[in-house]
Amino acid sequence: MCGVVGYTGKNQAVKYLLDGLSTLEYRGYDSAGVEVLSPSGNLHGVKCVGRVATLVERCKTANLVGTAGIGHTRWATHGAPTDRNAHPHTDCSGRIAIVHNGIIENFQELRRDLAAAGHELRSDTDSEVIAHLVEDAWNGPAKGDLAAAVRNACDRLEGSWAIAAICADAPGQIVCTRKGSPLVVASTPDGAYAASDVMPLAKVTSHVIQLDDGDIATLRQDGSVAITDRDGIAVEHPSTMDIDWDASAATLGGYSDFMAKEISEQPAAIERLLQGRLGKHGVELDELSMSDEELAAIDRVYVIACGTSYHVGLITKAIIQKWAKIPVFCEYASEFNYSDVLVTEHTLCVIITQSGETADTLTAARRMKGMGCRVFAITNVLGSSAARESDGTMYIQAGPEVCVCSTKAYTAQMVAAVLLALRLALVNGQMDQAEVERHFHDLEQLPGLISEVLKRRWQDKQAARLFRNAHSSLFLGRGVNSTTAYEGALKLKEVSYLHAEAYPAGEMKHGPIALLEPGFPVVAVVPADHVHDKTVSNIQECIARGAVVVAVATDGDEAVAKLCQDVLWVPPVPDEDLFPIVGVVHLQLLARYVARARGCDVDKPRNLAKSVTVE
Ligand code: M6R
Repeated sequence: MCGVVGYTGKNQAVKYLLDGLSTLEYRGYDSAGVEVLSPSGNLHGVKCVGRVATLVERCKTANLVGTAGIGHTRWATHGAPTDRNAHPHTDCSGRIAIVHNGIIENFQELRRDLAAAGHELRSDTDSEVIAHLVEDAWNGPAKGDLAAAVRNACDRLEGSWAIAAICADAPGQIVCTRKGSPLVVASTPDGAYAASDVMPLAKVTSHVIQLDDGDIATLRQDGSVAITDRDGIAVEHPSTMDIDWDASAATLGGYSDFMAKEISEQPAAIERLLQGRLGKHGVELDELSMSDEELAAIDRVYVIACGTSYHVGLITKAIIQKWAKIPVFCEYASEFNYSDVLVTEHTLCVIITQSGETADTLTAARRMKGMGCRVFAITNVLGSSAARESDGTMYIQAGPEVCVCSTKAYTAQMVAAVLLALRLALVNGQMDQAEVERHFHDLEQLPGLISEVLKRRWQDKQAARLFRNAHSSLFLGRGVNSTTAYEGALKLKEVSYLHAEAYPAGEMKHGPIALLEPGFPVVAVVPADHVHDKTVSNIQECIARGAVVVAVATDGDEAVAKLCQDVLWVPPVPDEDLFPIVGVVHLQLLARYVARARGCDVDKPRNLAKSVTVE
C-alpha cells in the first residue's frame, strides 16, 4: 500500500514524479503529493485528497520547478485521507521532507517524545515522525549528512518502511531506505530514480537495483547511486535485476479499463506459462530447486495466501491431494500467522501471491522458513520479496496486473499450481509419464477454451441486468467449483460493491437459504461433472423460493437451461478439475459488467489497494 517515487537528475523532477505516481496508483489512491527542491533552494510541494489525476491538475498551476523531488500516493492506515495527512511530510523547518510506505508501530511513543522535545506535528499519520527524527539527527549526530540522518532516524523506528527523503540543504540528493516494504532504485545518464516497484522505472531503464532491508541509497544529480548497509558499510555489489518486459504492457493499449484488458490477456498468459514445460521427465519445474528424492519425500504441504490467491490455494489443495495423494493444508496467511502449525521434517510450504509483497503472506513464509520448511513461491512479480526470500520461485509470467481486482493472475496461478501437482505426482509415483502428458495436453486446451468464453461475453453483459438493482446475491458451487463460487463472489463485491455471499451449494440449506426471496439473484456454477445433479437439486431449491438463477454450465445442458433465467455457457473442458480455470472467466466478466452498470471504477475499487503491504 502507498507508492513512493524519487528523482534527481538533469530533467524537471515533477514529470517523472507524476508519471511514476500514476503507474503506482494501484498501490493506493486516496491522496497524493509531491515535493520538489526549487532552484532558489527551498522545498515546494503540492498534496491533495483524491486521485493522482487531481494532483496532476493542481501541479499545472503550482509551477513546481526543480530537478530533484519525491512523491507519494497514499492508502490511509493512520489518519483519514485528508490534505493534511497526505505525504510528503516535512519537519518543523520545512527544509526536510519524506515519503513513507509501511507502518511505524511505535509512532505514538515517538510522537509523544518529539512533541515533548518541542517538535510541531501537523498530521495524524504515523509517517510524519520520520521527518522530525531526520531533522533531529541532521541537526545532531549526523551533522548535516542526509544519509546518516536517515539511518539514525531509522534506528528509532519499529515496523516496516520504504522511505525517500529530500533536504533543501543537501541539494541534488535523495536518500532512500527500506525495511520490509519494497523499494528499487536506478542509475541512468539522465539521473537517479527510486520507486516502490519496477513499473515506473521500466519507462526509463531496463536495469534496476533492489535494496535489501537496512540499505541506505544516496541518489545524486549526476545519476549515481551509492548504497551502504545498515552499519554504513558500502555495498559494492547490490542485487540487480533486468526488466525484460515492455513498459507498454502496463498501459491500456486501446481497452477502456485494465480489468477488461487483463481478462482478455488470459489465453496468452496461460500459453506463455505452459511453453517448454513438458519434457522427457514429465513437467519441468526446475524453479522448485529440489531434487526428485527431496520432492518424493514430501509428506505434507502448507499452501498459504490471501484473497484471490487463497482461492488458488484451495484449488491447489484439491489437486495435489487428488493427484499426488499428499495431505495439504490451505490457510489464510493472516490466520496462519497466529495459529498452531503442524510441520514435519518433509513439509513443503507453498506461498501464492501475485504481487509477491503481501505482508501477511511474507510473514507466514518467514515463519515456515524459521521452522526449517522449504518455501516455494508462485508469484507474478519479478524480484518481489516473495521471490527473493523463498527457496524456489515460479513466475507465472502473466505480465503486469494493474487492475486492483485480480483476474489473469488468478487463472495463471491455478495453472502453475496444476503443474506443481503434476510434478509431485510423477516423482512420488502416483502418476506415470503418460498420465502426466495426458493432463498436460488438457492444460494446453485451456487458452482456446478461455478464448471461446471471451467471445461469449455478451451473455455476461445480458445477465448483469439481474444484479444492477439487487442488494445482495448468492454464489453456489460444489467441489472445486465451490472455489469458483467464492472467487466469483469476491470479484463481484470487490468491483461493484454489491454484497455477494458464496457457499458450497450443499451448505445453502444450513443457513443462507433464508436470504432467498423473489427476484434474489443466485449464481450457480454447475458444469457437467460428477456432482452436477446434486447442484441442479440446489438450483431447484433456489427457484422454489423465487430466486432468479444464473448458471455457469457446460454447452448443451438442457436441464440447466430449462431451469435458469440465464446461462453463461462454457465449452466442454476435458478434465472437470480444470473447469474452474475456464468457468471463472464468465464470473470475472459478469462482475465487470455489473460494476459498470452500477457506475463503479472497476480498476480502482474504493478502500482497496493492489499490494497489501501491511498486516
Ligand atoms: O498479491 P497477492 O496475490 O498476495 O494479493 C492477495 C490479495 O490481496 C488479492 O488477491 C486481492 O484479494 C485481490 N484484489 C482480489 O481481486
